[in-house]
Amino acid sequence: MASPAPNKAEVLLADASATVLGPLNDKTKKILSKEAAVFLVLLHRTFNKTRKELLQKRVTRQAELDRGVLPDFLPETKHIRENDAWRGAPPAPGLQDRRLEITGPVDRKMVVNALNSEVWTYMADFEDATAPTWDNMINGQLNLHDAIRRQVDFKQGEKWYRLRTDRRLPTLICRARGWHLDEKHFLVDGEPMSGSLFDFGLYFFNNAEELVKRGSGPYFYLPKMESHLEARLWNDVFNLSQDYIGMRRGTIRGTVLIETILAAFEMDEIIYELREHSSGLNCGRWDYIFSVIKRFRQNPSFVLPDRSSVTMTVPFMDSYVKLLIKICHKRGVHAMGGMAAQIPIKNDPAANEVAMSNVRADKLREVRAGHDGTWVAHPALAPIAGEIFNQYMPTPNQMWVLRPEVEVTANDLLNMNVPGKVTEDGVRKNLAIGLGYMEGWLRGIGCVPLNYLMEDAATAEVSRSQVWQWVRHGAVTAEGQKVTKEYTLRLLKEEATKLAKDAPKGNKYATAVKYMSTQVTGEDYAEFITSLLYNEITTTSANQPAAKL
Ligand SMILES: *[C@@H]1O[C@H](CO)[C@@H](O)[C@H](O)[C@H]1NC(C)=O
Ligand SMILES: *[C@@H]1O[C@H](CO)[C@@H](O)[C@H](O)[C@H]1NC(C)=O
Repeated sequence: MASPAPNKAEVLLADASATVLGPLNDKTKKILSKEAAVFLVLLHRTFNKTRKELLQKRVTRQAELDRGVLPDFLPETKHIRENDAWRGAPPAPGLQDRRLEITGPVDRKMVVNALNSEVWTYMADFEDATAPTWDNMINGQLNLHDAIRRQVDFKQGEKWYRLRTDRRLPTLICRARGWHLDEKHFLVDGEPMSGSLFDFGLYFFNNAEELVKRGSGPYFYLPKMESHLEARLWNDVFNLSQDYIGMRRGTIRGTVLIETILAAFEMDEIIYELREHSSGLNCGRWDYIFSVIKRFRQNPSFVLPDRSSVTMTVPFMDSYVKLLIKICHKRGVHAMGGMAAQIPIKNDPAANEVAMSNVRADKLREVRAGHDGTWVAHPALAPIAGEIFNQYMPTPNQMWVLRPEVEVTANDLLNMNVPGKVTEDGVRKNLAIGLGYMEGWLRGIGCVPLNYLMEDAATAEVSRSQVWQWVRHGAVTAEGQKVTKEYTLRLLKEEATKLAKDAPKGNKYATAVKYMSTQVTGEDYAEFITSLLYNEITTTSANQPAAKL
């Protein structure tokens, strides 16, 4: 185990169990008190081993899929799926009606704007909409801490950002990083802490009691899980954490993003594991497509056409949505819909009208399918999505919509009959969007507006994975061009040149190209782009004087 060089680390606890590789200023100390650090150390020491084992299971599972084994519903948990008696928890305070959730990063301006939007809940995102620089993570915690206590108002230039006082604020839900990510700036016993446990632990330790006092609670979104065993780990974390501060078990709630193809086979089991802590499931549509490509990338039957053809109504997406709603409602928990990534197109009313009518159509599909709520990425979208849900869902949720007619088999979840073609335009768009997103992320921005869509990491993942898959399986474009390594690298260079030409000085396109070019040749394939790029945004090698608290 590599210990940090002493002149770079700040020793947070006297026994040196917790060390910080990053500036430890007053702001940081407010969030990372010694008491909080003791709790983080406990979490990591208790759960890191299981986390590592579960991540290793993902690797084993991938090897199986690479050999052509297809997933199915688990025989060993059949009794859980077929037992009609058990239910998830009834909705917690502030989570009864969540028809409209805004999602976004945790910078101070976004926190104020999100909480002032016409929404019911706000998913404050430490994951795919945030590039995990140390500053972003600490400031994000600080911003939520202050927002919960209504002390978040600030002035930028001449403009004040103030929380509304004329109504109850939307309920906060914190999305922690996924199990695969580390927090390299916070070391426990000399090694990087789990990013999930760091985000969860700080938010919980600093805010849980305050949230309950204010009539809400410590609520979380749990991303990117691949199995019910990973949900069991979260549940164990919740039990220990509540016991630690003397809080009633079942106060914490977790909504699980079903955004991997393997988790779609274990939705009942995931709710079951979290039972008294469950607040439902959500359709993470972009990551879901990414996961399908990633997990079956060696299998020629899973080659998809251009991203624009992979809509919510193609067979594998439609089946997953229906099954998710049916299972959630059978178990009495929320079935949340997906993201409207659109942002208003201010200078082009006609284009704006097309974009907004797409949003309406998508939300209409969701509310009719039985979803209890939906997501928007931009405050301006809230009235549009809200109008549809208000009209078609007069009750706080529609858990009574049981969809008994829905029968979804393993074959349905894996039905890749997706009409459409691979086109040169599709290849170029994937390359440009992947590059554009990575470039922003490398500058510490995890939520990047591109072509009037608010893109997060999932977009870049879909983009590079599609190109990888097309090269790997020798797809031929509608124009008759075989997608080869040479072809994608040439197009990558062309797209990068176009983007860099208009980009301000100090842009990160060169670095983005360096990484992207390793991911689009059908050879190397990183499990996650965010892990691949992480070292570029860490400051752990910066020379900081040691300080013992
Ligand atoms: C975390 O897990 C790794 C891999 O199992 C192990 O080497 C390490 O000692 C663990 N660290 C802690 C603090 O438990
Ligand atoms: C977690 O707490 C709940 C509620 O007390 C309990 O039913 C469950 O068995 C606990 N899980 C574990 C693993 O202890």
